[in-house]
Amino acid sequence: MVLVNKVPMVELASGIAKDADVVVVGLACASGKDVLVGLPDDLGRTLGRTFGADVASVAAGLGASSKPGTTVALPAPGGRRVLVAGLGDIDVTAEQVRRAAGGALRVAAALPGTQPLTVAVSFDTVGPQVIQGVTEGAILGAYTYRPNAANAGVGVVQIVTSARRTEARPAMDAGVATATAVCQARDWVNEAPNTLYPESFAAAIKEYGRAHRLTVDIMDEKALAAEGFGGLLAVGGGSVRGPRLVKVTYAPRGATKHLALVGKGITFDSGGLDLKQRAGMYIMKFDMSGAAAVVAAIAAIADLGIKVRVSAYGCLAENLPSGTAYRPSDVLTMYNKLTVENSNTDAEGRLVLADGLALASEEKPDLIVDVATLTSACTIALGERVAGLMSRDDATVDRILDAAETAGELFWQLPIPEETRAKLDSKVADLKSSSNPEGGALTAAGFLSEFVPRDLAWAHVDIAGPAFNEYEPYDYVPAGATGVAVRTLVALARSLAG
Ligand code: BES
Ligand code: MN
Ligand code: ZN
Repeated sequence: MVLVNKVPMVELASGIAKDADVVVVGLACASGKDVLVGLPDDLGRTLGRTFGADVASVAAGLGASSKPGTTVALPAPGGRRVLVAGLGDIDVTAEQVRRAAGGALRVAAALPGTQPLTVAVSFDTVGPQVIQGVTEGAILGAYTYRPNAANAGVGVVQIVTSARRTEARPAMDAGVATATAVCQARDWVNEAPNTLYPESFAAAIKEYGRAHRLTVDIMDEKALAAEGFGGLLAVGGGSVRGPRLVKVTYAPRGATKHLALVGKGITFDSGGLDLKQRAGMYIMKFDMSGAAAVVAAIAAIADLGIKVRVSAYGCLAENLPSGTAYRPSDVLTMYNKLTVENSNTDAEGRLVLADGLALASEEKPDLIVDVATLTSACTIALGERVAGLMSRDDATVDRILDAAETAGELFWQLPIPEETRAKLDSKVADLKSSSNPEGGALTAAGFLSEFVPRDLAWAHVDIAGPAFNEYEPYDYVPAGATGVAVRTLVALARSLAG
């Protein structure tokens, strides 16, 4: 059940090829004026003759602007389609071209047609960062979950650049590997929870891992019981579809650093006996977005041959109420032997992560990062587009914020205040699993912190807000699963490789 949806072929081009069905050019702001970017003279002249006016003013008349987020189609009487995408300031960053290419490819992918389209993206892109950005934006924008026959989507993307191939090629390849992994994460998250459950997700990871020449080890509920993974077993106990712990390993020769990634993989979160309200339950198939992100990221890291050892753990379980479900007030013995009083069966994510973090810690990696759709409190704090980043040390925070910035993802640091631990004091166990709703994202991080020895570098990334877009699509972000965190994790691996 590897779903890999068809990612367009990406190639480099030095000009606009005859076979391009759609040409994307930019509109950028240069000293207060909107100027066309990437429109070749000959195409400009042809269009000008057709319109009987210059292209820039026709575009402006149709509402085109350099404002990011705008894509306007020029009239195409019989000819090829030209899309004008707003780039923002003319000194473009990777994220500017990622957004503009994404918005344009989203428009192109929605064009009706039974033949896959060839789309040339012409933004005068030079420099590796920008070429990687435009490649990623194009692939991510063209993404459609389960495309249908009436809409064949985009088959080929041509990146028009004057850069030398030796410079452009590796940048484009990095963009392709990264964005393809993001699309895989999106596919898994978008998949319905009656077909994607712990066992089937684990099998999909196995197949995906094999395709990327990674080692995949799966622990089923028997193995988990034998080893005492009390968190995973408790959370997964309410479902007839039992929990799984999946470990994916990438160990390239010559690696000196070891990165461990731990992902929350709740394939459906009903809340358990502390059942969620109807409205809040609907999107909870997305609760395995963290696991999807870490597994997709390790594959991209391997594809790119980044010289870092990586271990990715998916903590997979389905949280359902039933006669075998765990209860509020149950006392659980976790993998690291700490006992936890379960405050609320809807605080299940931290329990499966705690087991995963404790296991990951055994190998003493140089850095452990967990990724999870962990708390609604984080979306209240930071909104639906920003991930919360929590850690015990500033060097780790800086490193991850840098990686997110490079990757073009919005991460923001939240604290783990010293007082948090006292909120988790329990009369019957070493600690309880949650506390009052105020600052819920920080409390969750405080809980997780107990499962990673102090001398290890660790960070927690809460993607409850940005993992799933419940609103309209924008730029390179579709409605539904976004695949957030994959790009940052790949950039992080690169920064560790030095
Ligand atoms: N998966 C949810 C977090 C979530 C909720 C993400 C809503 C996005 C939107 C998580 O398992 C959960 O239910 N967390 C609880 C924790 C609480 C019971 C301490 C929450 O955030 O309400
Ligand atoms: Mn929950
Ligand atoms: Zn959850």
